[in-house]
Amino acid sequence: MSARNPVVRVEPLTPQFAAAAHQWAQRLDLPEIQDAAEFALQIGADGLQLQLLEAQAPGPVRVDFVEGAAAHRRQFGGGSGQMIAKAVGIQPGIRPRVLDATAGLGRDAFVLATLGCEVSLIERQPLIAALLEDGLSRAAGDAEVGAISARMTLLKGNAIELMTQWQGEAPQVIYLDPMFPHRDKSALVKKEMRLFRPFVGDDIDAPALLAAALELASHRVVVKRPRKAPAIEGAKPGYSLEGKSSRYDIYPKKKLQG
Ligand SMILES: C[S@@+](CC[C@H](N)C(=O)[O-])C[C@H]1O[C@@H](n2cnc3c(N)ncnc32)[C@H](O)[C@@H]1O
Repeated sequence: MSARNPVVRVEPLTPQFAAAAHQWAQRLDLPEIQDAAEFALQIGADGLQLQLLEAQAPGPVRVDFVEGAAAHRRQFGGGSGQMIAKAVGIQPGIRPRVLDATAGLGRDAFVLATLGCEVSLIERQPLIAALLEDGLSRAAGDAEVGAISARMTLLKGNAIELMTQWQGEAPQVIYLDPMFPHRDKSALVKKEMRLFRPFVGDDIDAPALLAAALELASHRVVVKRPRKAPAIEGAKPGYSLEGKSSRYDIYPKKKLQG
């Protein structure tokens, strides 16, 4: 991680959320009053959100599995024909247990859980993990999406350590989507992760992440990359699936069976 630790303050959007804001500030060890803050972690009726504090800043970022882009993709996104589904080995009667070791805002994990996979998610950046935790808890209260989020389990910490110390049954598939240096700036879907770049930096420890994933996964490791980017340094992928802007490098270990 080559992050630079921007200053963040926590604030309630209305007075009724003052206690909740105070709790998040304590949990994340962030100030509640800080005039020099670059970002505000805000809490209001729509949950937790991160807002860049500068003139002409884009709107806030929150994790929302119930409405917006995630809901649209769930309903109209192409189901098990999506490339990510093929990459993790989803087939009729096969729904692998997946560990998404670079969870971010949980979008990819949500697609896999929507398709029926049990997904564990690991996120090491505490603010991103907090947004994800909040999004998952709001999803749990929704009649339709609650059944999907129930298949998602969030773990906080460094995936390299958590995978090395893994207890119990190994995940069948480990999915990795580390931040890539100089990632394509044009794609709209990357907008949010660009906002997080000051917190996350470039994931320069991706080779160690891949090595730990290859050690732990029982069936395959899948790495999402920008289409033209080189593969992560280290073991070579067995094959790749190429989409419009992304590529999935697949490191097979064993055939998935129903
Ligand atoms: C490009 S984003 C992932 C986006 C995600 N696939 C999605 O659909 O929202 C990469 C994320 O992986 C996290 N990450 C990178 N290396 C990690 C590690 N070793 N352990 C835990 N999280 C990691 C970063 O903090 C960042 O939030």
